[in-house]
Amino acid sequence: MKRIVVYWTGTGNTEEIANKIAGDLGCDALNVNATTPDDVLENDLIIFGCPAMGAEELEDAEFKPFYDEVMASIGDKKVALFGSYGWGDGEWMRNWEAEVASNLVTSGLIVNGGASDIDDGAYQEFIDALN
Ligand SMILES: Cc1cc2nc3c(=O)[nH]c(=O)nc-3n(C[C@H](O)[C@H](O)[C@H](O)COP(=O)(O)O)c2cc1C
Repeated sequence: MKRIVVYWTGTGNTEEIANKIAGDLGCDALNVNATTPDDVLENDLIIFGCPAMGAEELEDAEFKPFYDEVMASIGDKKVALFGSYGWGDGEWMRNWEAEVASNLVTSGLIVNGGASDIDDGAYQEFIDALN
C-alpha cells in the first residue's frame, strides 16, 4: 500500500509528529508547500496533519484549500488524521474526523505539543492501524 504523510505546521510541532510517523511507516512526510494534490492522490493511504488553528479549525490559508482539493477526488482511498493542539480539548479533531468518516481508517492522533509530548500507547495504536 502506497502511503504518504502530508502536513501543515506553523511552529514545527505538527512537522515533528509528521516526521516521526513517516519514519516509523517508511514513507515520505511532505509539507503541503512541497507537493501537489495530484501527487498526493497517487497514494492509497493519505495521512493528513494539521494543528488546531482559528477557533478549533483547520489552517485555512494553505492547508484547507489543499486538503479540500484532495478530498474532492478521494474516492475510496483511505485517510488518517493527526495534529498538534494547544489550549483546547481536541474539538478540531472531532470535527475533522466527522468530515472524513467514510474514508477514515482509525481515530485521529492528537498531541498537546510536539513529538516529545506524544502518548506512547495512543501513538502505537495509530501506527498499528496504518500498517
Ligand atoms: C492562530 C492560532 C490559533 C489556534 N487555535 C487553537 C485552537 O482553536 N485550539 C487549540 O487547542 N489550540 C489552538 N492553537 C494552538 C496550536 O494548535 C498549537 O500551538 C500547536 O502546537 C501548533 O502546531 P504547529 O507547531 O504544528 O503549528 C492555535 C494557535 C494559533 C497560532
